[in-house]
Amino acid sequence: MTRLILIGFMGSGKTTIGRLLANALRLPHLDLDDLVAADANCSIAQIFTDQGEAYFRDLESQALISVIRKPGILSTGGGTPVREENRQLLIDSDTPVVFLKASPEVIVNRLKGDHNRPLLRQLDTNQFMELYRKREWFYNQAADMTIDTDKKTPEKIMREILAQIREVPV
Ligand code: S3P
Repeated sequence: MTRLILIGFMGSGKTTIGRLLANALRLPHLDLDDLVAADANCSIAQIFTDQGEAYFRDLESQALISVIRKPGILSTGGGTPVREENRQLLIDSDTPVVFLKASPEVIVNRLKGDHNRPLLRQLDTNQFMELYRKREWFYNQAADMTIDTDKKTPEKIMREILAQIREVPV
C-alpha cells in the first residue's frame, strides 16, 4: 500500500491522521490545502476573500489531478468530494478512500473560535446542519471505507485505518 486518501468534513482530523499515517507507513504526507496555498502563494482564507470560492475550487481540482497518483497519504479539503469531477477521480482511483466521520457536535466543538475556515464564518446552526448532511452524502459516495472518529484518539483512529486497509485489496 503506497497511497491512501482521507476525506471528511472540516475538523474531522484529516490532516492530523494523515500525518500520523504517513509517519507510520514512511510515506510522504500530501495536504491538498497546503498544495493549493503553495501554488497560489497565498493562504486559503485569502484566496476565498480575494478571488472567491469558485476560483478556489478550480485550484483545488487542478491540485487533486496533479497529486492523486503520487505515492503518499493525501489529506483532502472538506469540500473536495463535492465537485462531481473530483468525486469521480476519487471513485475511479485504485487508492483506498477513507471517510473520517465525526458527529456535528464534535465538529462544532473542535472548530469553535477557528478563523481559518472561510466557509464556516457565516453559518448559523441550521445552515451548518444542512451543509453537514449534504456533505455526508458526497463523502459516502466517494469512500471505500468509513471510520467513526468520535471519542477516539488520533492513534486509535490510525490503528483502525491500518487494520482495515490490510483487508482491502488495492
Ligand atoms: C473547505 C475545507 C477546508 C478548505 C477550505 C474549504 C470546505 O479544508 O479546503 O476552507 O469546503 O469544507 P479542511 O477540511 O482541511 O478544513
